[in-house]
Order: sequence, then structure tokens, then C-alpha cells
Amino acid sequence: MTGDERERLIRAEFPAASDTVYLNTAAEGLAGGTMERALNRYAAAKRRGSAGRAELTETASSLKERLARRLECRTGDLALYSSVSEAIGTVLHGLPWEAGDNVVITDLEFPGAMIGCLALSRLIGIDVRVVSHRDGEIETGEIAARIDARTRLVILSHVSFHSGLRFDIEAVTEAAHRQGALILVDASQSLGAVPVAVGDVDFLVACSFKWLTGSHGTALLYARPALDDPLSRHLTGWQGVTDFLGVMRTHEYAPKAGAARYEAGMPNYPAIYALHDALGLLDALDPPWIEARVQRQAGAIRALCCELGLRVLTPADPARRAGIVAFAHPDAQAIGDALAARGVTAWYRDGRLRFSPHVYTSDADVQALRPALTAAVGGRTPSPV
Ligand SMILES: Cc1ncc(COP(=O)(O)O)c(C=O)c1O
Repeated sequence: MTGDERERLIRAEFPAASDTVYLNTAAEGLAGGTMERALNRYAAAKRRGSAGRAELTETASSLKERLARRLECRTGDLALYSSVSEAIGTVLHGLPWEAGDNVVITDLEFPGAMIGCLALSRLIGIDVRVVSHRDGEIETGEIAARIDARTRLVILSHVSFHSGLRFDIEAVTEAAHRQGALILVDASQSLGAVPVAVGDVDFLVACSFKWLTGSHGTALLYARPALDDPLSRHLTGWQGVTDFLGVMRTHEYAPKAGAARYEAGMPNYPAIYALHDALGLLDALDPPWIEARVQRQAGAIRALCCELGLRVLTPADPARRAGIVAFAHPDAQAIGDALAARGVTAWYRDGRLRFSPHVYTSDADVQALRPALTAAVGGRTPSPV
């Protein structure tokens, strides 16, 4: 595909990106035209009743193949859930916790994971060790220092929803394994923007409605095959066994190998169709090209924020960030409202404003941000860096 063809395809698939400066992928990715086509294909298959079932299951298998190719894992090591919170809950509640165990997590995590840990702590008394950030940053060593022989699980986002910091997953995985702990990585804010491979992590989760430009209603869970079912307790059902109609079905539980055993019943096929086709488009646009574009736009936005004297929370080094650029400001709400009035969609809450450009963000969008942000920030006391 030539550069012009790619730009035309992006404009045709994401028309909303032409109407507004859309910089809010970290909350909601824009859906491409693939969404409507995929849902229509699902509807056409469903209208055929049981005759459409083969297409449903083929699409689900094909989706897992696309995900497995990206993540460099096997399809059987993936399970589909309705949300990341549900996938993380499956791991949290499935591990064989003992009194005195702890989970290590940071305050740069999306609240869903933290709430899951705190709820489990109330139930069975595990210790929740929270590593605190300073101005959006945490060093690997600070996490490693909190992991000990009683740590059963480390939970870490690949890219923080809060500050945009991209963690060195390999280094933290090594630190966790050195102490015999498992690691769960949340790739919701990176998969679709920058390369994500499972490597040696034990669990990896990601939602589909942000950087993957899919719909709500499905999320993935990867579980490392070397582990012999580390989740001693988990939900399952007829989708999780090798032969649900086999003669032994009233006597024997014969789970599928790998994470596929954690799937219980009929999955969310509309969401599967949506994600399947969204991935097809992202693959056609070329993931390394998307990564370069995201990095360039995020870098330019970060530079603009620095130029305006804002208290930027996101590291400068492209290896330590992906598509999120955030700054702290006491007037984040007013600045965000002023940007919205000028046609810029960003995310702002709890004293932070966050930009998140994606494949559909053009150079013209970033140029348009300059006067809008300058005017929105102008006259407001900047926080000291
Ligand atoms: C890092 C991260 N994980 C997960 C989610 C979403 O979780 P869920 O699929 O449970 O809604 C979000 C944002 O909504 C997020 O930023």
C-alpha cells in the first residue's frame, strides 16, 4: 500500500477523525467502518439460525489466530472474556492463595485491577502492596524491591492509563520469577499501538475497545502454557472441555489444554466479529507503520506540552511511552472543557489531562492542537515541573 492509499483508507474508515481532533483512544478508540460491516456479517449469520453457527465458530477461531500471531503465542493459550476486569478476577480468584501471601501492584494501574485486589484482600486477607509513583514514574527496581518470597502475583500494566509510562515488562517478569511469583500484564493501553509479545509473562490481558478499535464485550486472557493450570479454582463449562457430549460427560471433567479451559459457554460473537475485522484493518495498515505514527504524534504532543510549561507525567524516551501523553494541572477540567469547545477531544479528570493519538491522528490534528491548547492553558497558573 502506498502512503496516499493508506491515508485515503484511514479517512474512509474513520470519518469521525476528520470532524474533530480526536485524542481520546485511551478511553475509547474510534471504530472503523469495519464495525458496521462486521456486525452486519454477524447479523446475517445469526439470521440463518443453526446454519450460521459454523461461520460464528470459524470467526472466533480466526480471531484467536490473529491475536496469537500478534502476541507470539498459541491460540489454545488464549481465552476470551467479557472484560479485562473479569479476566483479572479469574486469575485473582483462581490462584491458590495462602495466609501471609501478597500481591504487588502500582498506583499507576487502572482501578479495575486494584479494586479486584482489595476485594480479594477483604475476602481472604492477602496483603496488597502498592508501589507509589512520583510524577507518573516508577523504576523497575522500586517494584522489584516490594516482591518477596510471599508474593504470589505481580500485576502491572504494559502502559499506564494514568501517566503513559511504558514499563520494562521483561525486567519486572525476571524480578517476579526470581522470587517464584507470577506476573499478570495488562496490555489494554498498548496492544494495537506498539508491539506486544507474551514473552515469559504468566498472564496477559487486554481489552478490545481502545487501541484495537474493536467493540465492548470481549477481552483476552493469555495464560502461559508452561504452567500446569495455575488457577486451581476457575469457572468453566461446556466450551472448556475436550468433548462436552462424550460418553464420560456424567463422570469425568476433561478440560481442554491451556487457557481455553477457562471459557465457559457461548462467547460474545458480535464483539468477536467486531474485533476480528478491526484487527484485519490494523494488519492491513501495517502495525510497524501504526507504531511509528503513534510515536511521532505522541512525541509531538509531548513536546508541545513541555513548551507550554506543563507538568508532563509521560517520559520523553519513546521506549518508555507509547500512545498516551498526560500532564497534571489543577485546572485540568477547565482546560479540557476549553479544548472540547475548540473541537479537541481529550480525557480529563482527577487533576490530569490525557491525550492519546492513534492511527487516525494526522499531522494536521497535532498542528490544530497547538493554538487550542495554548489558548486553553493561557493565563492559568502552570504547575511547577
Ligand atoms: C489499563 C486498563 N485496563 C483495563 C481497562 C478496561 O477494563 P474493562 O475491560 O474491565 O472495562 C482500562 C480502561 O478502561 C484500562 O485503562
